[in-house]
Amino acid sequence: MKRGLLARWSVPGVVVPTSAVLIVLMAGRPSGQPAGVAAQRPEATDAARQVMAEEVFKNVQLLRGIPVGEFWDTMGFIAAAVGANCTDCHVEESLIDLERFADDTPRKRRARQMIAMVNAINQTHFGGARVVTCNSCHNGGNRPEPVPSLLRQYSLPLEDPNLVEPVPDAGSPPASETLERYVQAVGGTERLSALTSFVASGTYRGYDTYDQKVPYEIFVKAPNQRTVVVHTQNGINTTVFDGSRGWVAAVDRPVPLLPLAPGGELDGAKLEADLAFPAGISQALTGWRADFPITAIGDRTVHVLQGTGATGARMKLYFDSESGLLARVLRYTTTMIGVVPTQIDYDDYREVAGVKMPFKRIVTWTSGQATIELIEVQPNVPIIASRFTQPAPAVLTSQGLRP
Ligand code: HEC
Ligand code: HEC
Repeated sequence: MKRGLLARWSVPGVVVPTSAVLIVLMAGRPSGQPAGVAAQRPEATDAARQVMAEEVFKNVQLLRGIPVGEFWDTMGFIAAAVGANCTDCHVEESLIDLERFADDTPRKRRARQMIAMVNAINQTHFGGARVVTCNSCHNGGNRPEPVPSLLRQYSLPLEDPNLVEPVPDAGSPPASETLERYVQAVGGTERLSALTSFVASGTYRGYDTYDQKVPYEIFVKAPNQRTVVVHTQNGINTTVFDGSRGWVAAVDRPVPLLPLAPGGELDGAKLEADLAFPAGISQALTGWRADFPITAIGDRTVHVLQGTGATGARMKLYFDSESGLLARVLRYTTTMIGVVPTQIDYDDYREVAGVKMPFKRIVTWTSGQATIELIEVQPNVPIIASRFTQPAPAVLTSQGLRP
């Protein structure tokens, strides 16, 4: 079972959403801050600076010198690679007291040895390049399987479109052609240029909202400012991209306001903003490549393009070969021990002011999945400039579950 996929904070059989954890953490804390986080809150005021893992966490011996966001992604990577939940390596009390993540357990110590082993393998045999990762051996399982599987050898391979890589003579149309087709498919340059902003409302449902639908708002202004607000049961999560910088203020992060980390997070936020007004999509990324074999997502065949974001993140864009519309974005975030993917699937395109917009998106990452559905989109409305500036740190409320 791919438990790592679902439940970042879960114990076997019991899914405990982060927000529930925070609610418990809050009990008896007049400051309203979760345990283990309060002490680090001063960092939140200087949100342009990346906060390092060892400044926030108590017992980090190897994964040092990386921003908190990357540390979080690293834990997501490990959990996905070995098919584990957080509490397979951490004591269960971590779920109600964030500080207990610092406790060592036999499996956590084993994992630390494995990190050192992988570093040594790469150092000794691959000139220090990150070639071997946890996933190379574990491939989503607790114990690597030493004996080849005949079943797997003789079964038809299940093709994962995320794994397609460039091949010689792929015979696919050039990137410019696929991008041009996409621009036409969503409405064409003329209609796109008439759309300069929009405000949308809808619902968000994810592991961090007890898998319940909560209100969601999105504010976007051309060329590429974008703010997303999720009203979770335990407070408001805000992600802002102001055209070049970005921040996330979230109640379920170990620090209540963090700058988006360069790489997947920042480049991903920029691409999402660029995709809201896609007339200039060919400028959104650099180093476009189109030499991928044609592949499929479910029963839809797709053309794959790849490009690189301004801070180095690799992204793959999947275009429906029939409609020309964007079906998926896959972006890669580099962590200290491996690369983690984040996948956004776009669906239910509807016309707003003559422009086709995806009313449904599903975001999938190593430790969670969220479904966002738009209900209403108002095109070309004025949005106050302060919507796109650094947000205030997220404040935990204790409303508990909405009815
Ligand atoms: C396979 C084992 C394993 C899994 C699964 C795992 N971790 Fe860890 N975790 C570690 C190890 C090892 C360290 C210590 C790293 C070091 O010393 O550099 C650590 C450290 C941490 C810390 C720092 C605690 C402190 O104060 O020092 C936090 C927080 C954390 N993990 C959270 C998580 C979360 C959240 C998950 C689930 C997404 C998770 N971990 C899944 C092995 C694991
Ligand atoms: C070169 C192959 C290889 C790589 C790479 C590798 N492991 Fe392992 N790992 C193993 C093997 C083999 C075992 C089982 C050993 C045994 O049976 O005692 C294991 C066992 C483990 C266990 C203990 C499982 C249990 O329940 O006893 C953990 C935790 C673990 N690995 C985590 C990791 C992490 C985290 C990484 C990446 C930093 C990693 N491994 C990378 C080969 C590897």
